[in-house]
Amino acid sequence: ALKWLLWRLPLLSVVGGIVYIGYGIYEDRNPEPQVEPDPSKKTLVVLGTGWGSVSLLKNLDTENYNVIVISPRNYFLFTPLLPSCTTGTIEHRSIMEPVRTILRSRKGAVKYYEAEASSIDPERKVVRVFDNSEVKGAVTETEVPYDMLVIGVGAENATFGIPGVREHTCFLKEIGDAQLIRKKIMDCVETAAFKDQSPEEIDRLLHMVVVGGGPTGVEFAGELQDFFEEDIKKLIPDISDRFRVTLIEALPNVLPSFSKQLIEYTESTFKEEKIDIKTKTMVKRVTDRTVEADITRPDGQKERIVLPYGLLVWATGNAVRPVVKDLMGRIPAQKDSRRGLAVNEYLVVQGTRDIWAVGDCAVAGYAPTAQVASQEGNFLARLFNNMAKTETLEENIRELSGSLNLKPGNAAEISRKIEDYERQLRRIKDIKPFHYSHQGSLAYIGSEKAVADVSWFNGNFATGGSLTYLFWRSAYLSMCFSTRNRLLVINDWLKSKLFGRDVSRE
Ligand code: FAD
Ligand code: NAI
Repeated sequence: ALKWLLWRLPLLSVVGGIVYIGYGIYEDRNPEPQVEPDPSKKTLVVLGTGWGSVSLLKNLDTENYNVIVISPRNYFLFTPLLPSCTTGTIEHRSIMEPVRTILRSRKGAVKYYEAEASSIDPERKVVRVFDNSEVKGAVTETEVPYDMLVIGVGAENATFGIPGVREHTCFLKEIGDAQLIRKKIMDCVETAAFKDQSPEEIDRLLHMVVVGGGPTGVEFAGELQDFFEEDIKKLIPDISDRFRVTLIEALPNVLPSFSKQLIEYTESTFKEEKIDIKTKTMVKRVTDRTVEADITRPDGQKERIVLPYGLLVWATGNAVRPVVKDLMGRIPAQKDSRRGLAVNEYLVVQGTRDIWAVGDCAVAGYAPTAQVASQEGNFLARLFNNMAKTETLEENIRELSGSLNLKPGNAAEISRKIEDYERQLRRIKDIKPFHYSHQGSLAYIGSEKAVADVSWFNGNFATGGSLTYLFWRSAYLSMCFSTRNRLLVINDWLKSKLFGRDVSRE
């Protein structure tokens, strides 16, 4: 019987897997009726539908509060695979999950407003919101009152006030950015291939410059080089030898947050891929066709260089969003905070009551990553679930204590119940402060290679290469939001491997 089972084990696990996925899909398509909002419960307003907020919503018992979600983006975006959308390795909708689907799967109904928060008044406990979408109704601006508020609005792109950046460069943060880059790459290629184009103009148009050697810039540069090597070169061979990618970084090396060995591995891989890395080079000005930067020479002298470009992608990190800046200005305890809302170890915004912050807009002493944001969101969900349970238990204890004198015959039983509730209460109230557990950092560097700094038995394990690339793919696939996302991403990977990336310019 054991032999029979061993033989059929792989088949059984495949069938089991299919049944499991199928049931998950069926459940998503046929959700249970939801518990409707109860006006006697507290109103919890959540700003944003990114990593922090969605992780909170995924783990929150929504029937304990009247939950209202406000975000200009009615979907969750799986940012780790966003660089792959710029070249069509992955189609953008494969890494988007509609917020309506996420909220419909919750037990308690949640309200969603597609709007942007413009200001928060902590005195009156209201959020001012406006509709910034293309279709406008009669009401475009209003106020939403809250009892509890979670701010998870992320960050915007840092430009450091450098002239020309906003006007002439592409960012890489949102789906629209990736779509614009994809379109512009092909526009540059087709314009370079235009009849009688001069050699200088071909060189300019096919020069793709990336500013910022953090993970965003490095991953994008790698994806871009892959696109040219694997697709453009084959389809338009006559211009392919003119294509160049330059990565500009102000610091002495790229990927400053990775270990030294991986920095060296990335830089040598880029050399092989013919990506030109210019370190110790600070961009000072951007025009519609050139980027100007100061290079620090080994003798410490600065030299100004001017590089003509066709596409310029700006990836120099995060800046604070206006709504967050405005709130910081209203709270005296935030006056020394520069990079976002300073929070305590329970993620409460310093100097406020009933306001919490998660993710890139919060300063909790960790890097602004998806990993941190989702753990913070998860922590808040546990905290709020506990707070709701605490209130119910306290209410029960109050009621039982009141009935103690009225029913002296049942005093022993009532006292036992009270003790039991008090024990539960002590256990729940003993919630530890937020603690971030770092699982490691991963980055794709092109040519089917990736680098990984993984936490391993309290130590660190650094690895790079093709096997790490397989690890990178499986890790990100498992982290995708839903089964739907996972299937779509697998399909995109297969499609671009089999047929090449789609080079049509939308
Ligand atoms: P976000 O995910 O940015 O979400 C913010 C939300 O707030 C959005 O829904 C937005 O629409 C909404 N919002 C904005 N303004 C307002 C407003 N005024 N009112 C209401 N809502 C508002 N991290 C990793 O750990 N691993 C990776 O591999 C990785 N790859 C990345 C790749 C790229 C290209 C980028 C750009 C980032 C990457 N990151 C990665 C970083 C990670 O995406 C961020 O740290 C993470 O998104 C932060 O989560 P968040 O919830 O704070 O903000
Ligand atoms: P970043 O802040 O990590 O890197 C920006 C880089 O731009 C810095 O190295 C900085 O020195 C450089 N820079 C700034 N101004 C410059 C100028 N004028 N000229 C030249 N260089 C300049 O930003 P990034 O890459 O957008 O990442 C943001 C956050 O998201 C980080 O916390 C990062 O860890 C995370 N992230 C993680 C990824 C991963 O784990 N695979 C992928 C992408 C982002």
